[in-house]
Amino acid sequence: MNQRKGDNRGMAPPATDPDAGPIRLTPDLLVARGHHRACYVDPRDRDHCIKVYHRPDPKDLKREQTAYRVLQRHGADWELLSRYFGEVTTNLGPGYVFELIRDHDGRVSRTLEHYLDPATHESLTAAELTPAMRALRRFLIDNRVISQEIAPRNLVFRRRADRGGDLLMIDDIGNRDYIPIRNHLAFMARNRIRLYWGRFEARLREGYGLDLGAISGPDSA
Ligand SMILES: Nc1ncnc2c1ncn2[C@@H]1O[C@H](COP(=O)(O)OP(=O)(O)OP(=O)(O)O)[C@@H](O)[C@H]1O
Ligand SMILES: [Mg+2]
Repeated sequence: MNQRKGDNRGMAPPATDPDAGPIRLTPDLLVARGHHRACYVDPRDRDHCIKVYHRPDPKDLKREQTAYRVLQRHGADWELLSRYFGEVTTNLGPGYVFELIRDHDGRVSRTLEHYLDPATHESLTAAELTPAMRALRRFLIDNRVISQEIAPRNLVFRRRADRGGDLLMIDDIGNRDYIPIRNHLAFMARNRIRLYWGRFEARLREGYGLDLGAISGPDSA
């Protein structure tokens, strides 16, 4: 399912029949609502989701689309990102098609926020979370994936059959004060990712009492 470096299919628009009319998104297809968008299972493909804005934020959208284009240009690896497939028309307005992340058993993967919330009674052990955190940090730095902030609600934990899993970034890709040069100069981009990652770890420690050790220690480049 994962497509590798240099594969440019990520930006290809999904096949749509222009005569078929808007795609119908119904309440039973709803996955979750964020602050800006609602995320629906794509009725045409269970491995895709369609996001529609319930609170319009065109600046955010531009930021995200620019970031995906930059990643595309760099020949980024998509392993730990939800791929973007383009824009469609839905009964709820313009929709944006992404890869829908699912666990090994077909259930839609839950956010890190879900697993950190004691009320859900579904927690992750340090043995499950630490390797996934390390891999995501490495991935973001290697692929220069710039984000706004790294927030638990914008990461999902994709469970594997062996009880481990991977953390993927599903939202907040791209930066508010997007300065193209910062994204082209690799060392500046990577420093920024380290900065945001450090804040993310501090937030996990202070907000959730979660200390996974020195994932972003000085050794880890
Ligand atoms: N690719 C995906 N795979 C699985 N679940 C997803 C995916 N994209 C979004 N979701 C679910 O839908 C929720 C809302 O989507 P998203 O984060 O894109 O909306 P948003 O309104 O932009 O978020 P925010 O509240 O961070 O501004 C996510 O928190 C997550 O629960
Ligand atoms: Mg979000």
